[in-house]
This record gives sequence, structure tokens and C-alpha cells, in this order.
Amino acid sequence: MDIKQPKGTKDALFGEVEALEQVEQALLNIAKLYGYAGIRTPIFEHTELFTRSVGDSSDIVRKEMYTFTDKGDRSLTLRPELTAGVIRSVVEQKVVHSYDLPLKLYYLGPAFRYERPQLGRLRQFHQFGVEHIGITSPLSVAETIATGVTVLEMLGFQGVSVSLNSLGDEASRNAYKTALKAYYEPQLNDVCEDCRQRYETNPLRMLDCKVPADHDRAKNAPKISDYLTPISQAYFQSVQSALSAINVQWHHDEQLVRGLDYYADCVFEYHYVSKTGKDYGAIGAGGQYPRLVEELGGPSLMAVGFAFGIERIIALLADAGRLEGVRSYVDVYIISMEEATDTYAFKLAHNFRYTNFKTELNLEHRSMKSSIKSAVKRDAVYAVIIGVEEMKNNVVTIKNLQTQEQQQVPVQEVVHLMQHLTNQPGHHHHDEEEGHHE
Ligand code: HAM
Repeated sequence: MDIKQPKGTKDALFGEVEALEQVEQALLNIAKLYGYAGIRTPIFEHTELFTRSVGDSSDIVRKEMYTFTDKGDRSLTLRPELTAGVIRSVVEQKVVHSYDLPLKLYYLGPAFRYERPQLGRLRQFHQFGVEHIGITSPLSVAETIATGVTVLEMLGFQGVSVSLNSLGDEASRNAYKTALKAYYEPQLNDVCEDCRQRYETNPLRMLDCKVPADHDRAKNAPKISDYLTPISQAYFQSVQSALSAINVQWHHDEQLVRGLDYYADCVFEYHYVSKTGKDYGAIGAGGQYPRLVEELGGPSLMAVGFAFGIERIIALLADAGRLEGVRSYVDVYIISMEEATDTYAFKLAHNFRYTNFKTELNLEHRSMKSSIKSAVKRDAVYAVIIGVEEMKNNVVTIKNLQTQEQQQVPVQEVVHLMQHLTNQPGHHHHDEEEGHHE
């Protein structure tokens, strides 16, 4: 059989899983620190949810969705992002009607986009994100943007820069679309096929085109900032001053339009260049979405949120050498020397685990040398060796794998003694950073 993982997916094994768990745990802790509560929504939704929110003029909906028909003839789609599902859920469960606003929710889970896989781009990836729903003040927008910066700083990224732009309110965008169309009209024969469609459906998308010639054309296009209504202009200014007031580094990126249709007003992206110079793309991004809650059947509520790509975070941490030493380990490695001692060792392993020691049990009856080697590989601190002689005398041999010291102790006392030796009443704690003992 020659079945490989699907293109654009990633297996995680051994240290990679520990790295993921460590980063995920840090993200959840930070979300809670900022008063966010968790939300989990299904991995698939009705396709219409995404066509109506992410938008049918977006590349995501037009080209990248994993859509299928189920046996009940429903069109379902693997979520390309989590915001739509979160808003669908809080509207459907009436949380936005009854809950004390603003509502602050975080999530972490897989998302799926049929994109061409490349550095930093997968077809199944994971997002950590927050949604801040029912806000009004520009300071709440700034607070959310700053939360993302704090998340990155707490993960060890210094000097994160935030790209910021305003897409304005509806009136701003309508005026801007007219200006864009006037700019592109004489060049319509030269732009790419996609851009000709975008011209009709959503000309803002043309600024995002990856085709080099169109990318250059976009640089000379009119700027949205010249078309913002005074209200949008003032709101954007307030977001900027609030960010500066708390020393968040930001810069105004006039080209930033974002690839999802639900955005209006302030949009942003987090960028961080790897120490190795690799560009994984934006590490995270988000923006305001003032109409989505209402469009999905809820009250008229302004919201803002962002999402980070977990794989991009992991890649950047790995490049910075911050993931080394993340590995699995056990405290106690029990070696049963022969079949006759297996049950005895089996029971002892059970006791250790019930006393909160991470315990591995070796029932392979290999040579002492090779068993000890396995114990060392698992980063065990102590090996507990049980042979027939030991069992007869109701003792076990414990070997400190760092000092090589060895001693025999009564079996009834071994768990207790180990607690004493490892300095922990019942629960042994490893240094999180190092992942192994000193
Ligand atoms: P997005 O910019 O489409 O926004 O995705 C957010 C982040 O997910 C990106 O910055 C990137 O780190 C990661 N990401 C996206 N696509 C891929 C991919 N193919 N492979 C690996 N990582 C990827 C959203 O999804 C919005 N829902 C964010 C948001 C939340 N806006 C408001 N609230």
C-alpha cells in the first residue's frame, strides 16, 4: 500500500506534538487572562454560511472551499475560517441577545482551504482567534489589536509590527469603489481574468491581486484613505492614537484590504520576519465586522476579532530556536526482568500513575543495558528494576539515571520514597521550559 498524507496536510509526531501543546496552552492562558471565554463550533457548516459572510467575491469562497454534499443532499463546507461559525453560533444560541455585552470569545481549531501549498501555507491548518462582539468604542478595537500583540510578545516575539488600514464605512467604500472602477476601466483589457470579474463583483479585491502586473497597477490606484467619510476618518484616527498611547508599533498600509468580505472600518495584520529571513506570510490578521452579526440574523452589533495561524507561530518559534528541548518524558521507568515479574511490575506501575508519576512500563525482557538505554531515551529520572530475586524479597532496585546510584528498597515504600526523592508530595513537576530534569 502506498497511501501518502493528502497534499497540504501535516502530521505531527513526538516533539512536534509537545510543541503544539505548549503553544496552544500558552494561547489559551493568555485568552483567559484577557477575559475571553472559550467557544467550539463544528468543523463543517452549511455552505451558505460562508458564501454570505466570507463572501462570494472572496478567493476563499470562489476557489478554496472544501465543499461536499452529504447523504441528505445538503451542501456542507469544511470551515475555511472560524469567525463565521462563531457568529452563527452566538446568534443561533441567542447568546448575543441575553449575555452581558461585549461578548469576548476565543477559539482554537482546524480550518481548511484549498490553496496551493507553500511555505507557511497549508490546506489543513489551525487558527487561534478571538472575537470581541458588541463593542462601540475605537478603544475596544485598539484593545483587541493590542491583545494580539501581547499574545505574540508573551510567546517571545519582540518587535512585532501591525499593519493597519481602514476600509471605512459603507458610504466611504461606495465612493472608493466608484473611484477604483474609474481608474481600472481604461485598463480592463490588460488585467487578469480574475480581476475582470473582481471589477464587477468587488473592485477592492483587485488591490489584492497576486499577478505581478496587476500588483503594480494596484500601487498606483486611488487610496481608500482619500475617500473615508469624516466619521470613518475620525474613528480610524482614534484607533491609531489609542495604539500609540500604549506603544504598540503600527504602520498605515494603504494596500491592506484583507481577503474576506465581512470587514469594514479598521483591518490589520501582524507581521514578524523570521530570524532566518523566511517569510511565512502574516502570522495573524483581523478586523472590524460591523454588519455580520445582523446579517446572520442577530441584533445590529459591531464586532472585531483576529486569528493567528498556529503553524506559522510554530515555524517562527522553531526558527528562533525556542522549541528545542520540547519532548515527552517520564519520571519513572519500570523494568520487569522476566515474565514471572510482569504482574508485579504491572501493579507497581499502576500505583505510580495513581500517585501522579509519569510512568513507563517495560515488559520486553531485554538485557539490562538495553532496557536502561530505553529509560534514558525517555528522559526518565529513575529506573525501577524488578527481577525474580527482588520480587521474592519484596524489594525493588531503584537506579538514579543521572548519578547511576542504585539502591534496594522495600516495595511498599518505593512510591513514598520516590515522592521524597523528587521533592514532591504526590505530584512531580517538570520544568516546563526545559522539558527535562536538571
Ligand atoms: P485570515 O487572514 O484569512 O483571517 O487568516 C488568519 C491567519 O490564519 C493568517 O494570518 C495565517 O496566519 C493563518 N492562515 C490562513 N490561511 C492559512 C493557510 N492556508 N495555511 C496556514 N495558515 C493560514 C481569518 O481567517 C479571519 N477569520 C480572522 C478574523 C477573526 N477576523 C475577525 N475575526
